[in-house]
Amino acid sequence: MNSSFSMMSKLNVFLSPSKIILGNGAASQTGAEVKRLGGSRALIVTDKVVIKAGLTAGVEESLKAEKIDYDIFDKVEAEPKAKIADECVQVTRNGGYDIIIGIGGGSSLDIAKCASVVSTNGGKALDYAGTDMIPRRGLPKILVATTAGTGSEVTRTYIVTDEADSFKKPAHSDFILADVAIVDPALTVSMPPVVTADTGMDALVHAIEAFTSATATPFSDVLAREAIELIADNLLAAYAKPNNMEARFNMALGAMLAGLAFASGGLGIVHGLSNLMGIKYNMTHGRSNAVILPYVVEYNRIANVNKFAAAAEAMGADTEGLTDYEAAEELAPVLFRYLDDLQIPTKLSAYGISEKDIPGLVDGTMKVNRLFVPNPRLPNKEDVRGIFEQAL
Ligand SMILES: [Fe+2]
Repeated sequence: MNSSFSMMSKLNVFLSPSKIILGNGAASQTGAEVKRLGGSRALIVTDKVVIKAGLTAGVEESLKAEKIDYDIFDKVEAEPKAKIADECVQVTRNGGYDIIIGIGGGSSLDIAKCASVVSTNGGKALDYAGTDMIPRRGLPKILVATTAGTGSEVTRTYIVTDEADSFKKPAHSDFILADVAIVDPALTVSMPPVVTADTGMDALVHAIEAFTSATATPFSDVLAREAIELIADNLLAAYAKPNNMEARFNMALGAMLAGLAFASGGLGIVHGLSNLMGIKYNMTHGRSNAVILPYVVEYNRIANVNKFAAAAEAMGADTEGLTDYEAAEELAPVLFRYLDDLQIPTKLSAYGISEKDIPGLVDGTMKVNRLFVPNPRLPNKEDVRGIFEQAL
C-alpha cells in the first residue's frame, strides 16, 4: 500500500480525551483522577448488568480511599432512550454532583457523557443532536470501559434513541470528550463469549470503516490499521477463552484505537444499514453491524482498492503476489470465515428478517444518510436495497 497522502490541502484534526489510562487494574486510578480534577461528589452512571457483575467495585474502592462522596445511577439500558438520558440529567442536576463517572459499555458511557454536558447546558438530551450544538463545557467526566467494543470512552459522541420516531440520534461535540478514559482489560474478562464476539465485531467494523473512510486522516489511518491487526489477531482467542488476559488486553487496546480512529476519520454505511436492524429485530449493536459488514465491504471495495487490499492484509489474508485489486477481493471472504468462527450467522433470515422487511430497512437507511458522506462509495436507494438482498 502507498503510505503517502494526496489530500495535502485538507485540514486534519485528531480528537481524543485529555488522558487515557490503559492496563489491568487501571480502574483503581479513578479516585485519584477524581481528586486531581477537583471532584468531591461523584455520580456513577452505569447499568444493572455492570453492577451485577461487580464491575464497579474497583472504582468504588478507589473513591472511598480518596474520601469522595458518590451515588450510583444504574438505570441505563441497551440502545438507551432519550427518556433515560433526561432522567440521568435530572438526577445529576438535583444531586449537586461535580463530576460524572461512566462505567460500562457504549450505552452507559454515552449516558454519562450526556449527563455531563446537558446538566450544565440546560434542556434535554435530544436538544443537542447534531454536530457542535453544545455551547459550553460540561461537568468533568471519567469514562471506564467494561467492553472491548464501542470505543465510546474516547469519542466525542453520545447517541440516544428518539422515542418519537425510533431513530438513534447522535450528538457530536468536543465538550463530550472525556477528561480521563480508563481502559482496564481486567473488567472485560466477565463478558460471555457471545458478548465478546458482538462487541469485538463492533470494534472491527469501526476499524475497517475508519481505515477505508472517505474522510480518513493521517492520524486515523495509523490507528485504524493497527486496530484491525490487533482485533484480527485477538478476538477469536478472547472468544475461545474468556480469561485469556493477553487476548483481552489486545482487544481492549484494539477497540480503543478503533474508537480514536473513527472519532477523527469517520465511519461508513455499516452503522447506517444496521441502525433499524438493531431496533426492530432485537439484535445487539455489535451483532447487527457484524452481519452486514462483509456485504458492505464487497459493495465499497471498488471505491478504494488500495485501502481494502491493505485491510485484507491486516486481517491476515494471504495477499502475497496479488495485485491490490485482487487483494481487496480477499477482505469479504476473510470476514465471512471470521464470523463463522465466532458462530455469528451472516444471513438476515437467521434473525427473522425476510424479503417483506427489506423496503422498511431500505427506507430507514435512506433517512439516516449522514453516514453516506464518509462512506467511500456513494450509495443510492437501489444500492442499499442490493446490499440487504445479498444479505438475506
Ligand atoms: Fe459501533
